[in-house]
Formats: sequence, C-alpha cells, structure tokens
Amino acid sequence: MRRLTAYFNKQPKFFFIFLGILITLLISAIDFLTKDFFVLEFYIISVVLVAWFAGRNAGIFMAFICGLATFALDIIETTHHVSPLVHYWNFFMNFGFFLIVVYFLINLKEALELKSKFTSTISHEFRTPLSVIKESISMVRDGLCGGINDKQEDLLNMAVRNANRLNLLINDILDFQKFESGKMKFVFEKNDINKVVQEAYNGVELLIKEKNIDFVFNMGKDLPETKFDKDRIIQVITNLLSNAIKFTDRGAINVNTTKDGSNIQVEVRDTGRGIKAEDMQRLFKSFEQVGSFNKRVEKGTGLGLAISKEIIVEHGGKIWAKSEPGRGTAFYFTLPIRQG
Ligand SMILES: Nc1ncnc2c1ncn2[C@@H]1O[C@H](COP(=O)(O)OP(=O)(O)OP(=O)(O)O)[C@@H](O)[C@H]1O
Ligand SMILES: [Mg+2]
Repeated sequence: MRRLTAYFNKQPKFFFIFLGILITLLISAIDFLTKDFFVLEFYIISVVLVAWFAGRNAGIFMAFICGLATFALDIIETTHHVSPLVHYWNFFMNFGFFLIVVYFLINLKEALELKSKFTSTISHEFRTPLSVIKESISMVRDGLCGGINDKQEDLLNMAVRNANRLNLLINDILDFQKFESGKMKFVFEKNDINKVVQEAYNGVELLIKEKNIDFVFNMGKDLPETKFDKDRIIQVITNLLSNAIKFTDRGAINVNTTKDGSNIQVEVRDTGRGIKAEDMQRLFKSFEQVGSFNKRVEKGTGLGLAISKEIIVEHGGKIWAKSEPGRGTAFYFTLPIRQG
C-alpha cells in the first residue's frame, strides 16, 4: 500500500486515471446490479477528475472508456432492444458528450493556468527594474551624488517609501501565486522560536518606535527546538506584528511564546482598534480588508493573513484570532513540535 501511495505521489496523473477507472467500474457495477440508468451523470465524475488533473489525452481516453462501458452494459442488459444500432448510437452519444466535457474543462484549466502564469511573470519582471529605481533614488537621497535640500530629501523619502511598498506588494502577489499553483517550497530545519521572534521584531523595531507604542516579549522558557521553515515563519510573525502596529495607536504589543501540549504557540496581542465579530471569518481570506479605513496610513492588499494561514497550515499548525472591538486583538498560531 505504501509503495502504491509513493508511486502515485510521484505520478499524480496515474492516480487520477486509476481513480477515474475505479469510479467508472464501480458505477458500472452498481448500474449492472440495480439495472438502473443513472449512468451518464455518474460517469461524468470520472471524466471530470481525469480531464482536470491528468490532461487532454487522458480525458479523451476516459471518455472513450465511459462510452465503451455504456455500450457493454447496453448489450449485457438489454438483449431485447429493437436494433443493435441503438448500442452504437449510445456509445457515440456518450463518447461525444464526454469529449465536450473534456474540451471544456481543459480549456478552462488552461485559461486559469495562463492567468496565473501571466500574473507571476509580470510581478517577476517588475522586481528587477523596481530595485534599480529604489537603489538609484536612495543614492541621490543619501547625498552620494551631491548635496540636496530638505524639500528634495522629503520627496525622495516619499519615493523610496512607495517603492518599498510596491516591492512588498509584488512579493505578496508572487507568494500567493506560488501557493495557488502548489509551487511554494519549504525548508524545514530545527529552529528556536524565541530567536525567530526576536529576528522578526528587529525588522519592525523602527516602525514600533515611530508609533510610540510599547513592545513586550514574554519568551517561553525551555521551549524545545522544532523543525520549521525559518524564513516563512518570520514572514508570518512580521505580518502579525506589522498588522498590530498598523491598527494600534496607543498601548502595547505583546508577544508570548508557550508550549501547549505537543505544539509551540505564539501569540501576538495588541491594544488597537479590534475587529468586529461579523468580520472575523473574513480575516484570512485573500484580498479582504475589514472595518473602516484610514486610507493614508493603513495601506495594504489584504494578502498578509491569507499567506500566513497557508504557511501555518503547510506546517501542520493552526492560526486564529480573538478580538474585542475598541480594546484590541490577539492572533495565535501553533507549530507542532517536530524534532526528528
Ligand atoms: N491586529 C489587527 N487589528 C485590527 N484589524 C486587523 C489586525 N490584523 C488584521 N486586521 C484586519 O484584517 C485585514 C487583513 O489583514 P492582512 O494582513 O491580510 O491584510 P493587510 O494588512 O490589509 O494587507 P497586507 O498584509 O497584504 O499588506 C486588515 O486589513 C485589517 O482590516
Ligand atoms: Mg498585513
């Protein structure tokens, strides 16, 4: 059994063909036993599966098999039929019908793939020129090409800020695309969660100081090292921290790390504006931003939490939030402790 699963993991196409044939056989058997005619609707399931996952040729092959199955059933079941031509007619009708399904599905899939490829290529192509623009503006701003006045410095600072924002946005879209197409790679290595939180904090320290809010880190004692993708978990914590900073004007941000049974739990709590109960279930959906917005300071795309959730789920953990509107929000995530 294990060998079979390993084989199908390597060759997912064959898995879907196998599944399709199994379903066809099963439905044929049920059909044969019950002498009932719900054939067509159920054959569709197998054709859909194979066409979608295994591609055009496999879909056509499956359509042929389904047509053949109805043909065989017809002959076995209804020897009293008026003319043998009816069987051929049924075969061609079913085969033709399934071919239409196959072509429709394949075209749909190709259109979706094209869309995702287009988005990732465009985003990718934006990155290089953008970093050159950022680099050049920073050099002028830092006076490496001669002195500048205050007004010029303000404008260049604004340009750098916006270039950074665009950079983050492009990275988010690329990440999201990778998750959607299943191409996101993870590197699982033993790490110390407290050091990782500290590293994420270093990246946003300036933002916290600028907003004049306190930061308290309650490091869990004796937390075991566990296997996770350090960069991706830093990305999750950074997103939770930057949300907390963005939506908090006074008070403090608390981070707690604890061991909870066989998991490590990280909590990021703020004393910000909070989230209404009716908005809670939309939080982790892509491109969702909830509540009213001060557009000038609260810019974002609504991808941060959707990406964070994908990352945590990929690690076998959970992520959730609790909030009291007007009083603050706490985000939690867990990582299963894995050492081997
Ligand atoms: N700590 C928080 N306090 C209040 N609201 C929050 C908090 N964290 C998230 N939210 C709400 O959830 C929404 C989704 O957050 P998410 O991180 O996915 O997107 P974003 O921060 O708006 O944009 P991005 O992270 O892509 O730049 C936010 O727009 C905000 O409305
Ligand atoms: Mg965010």
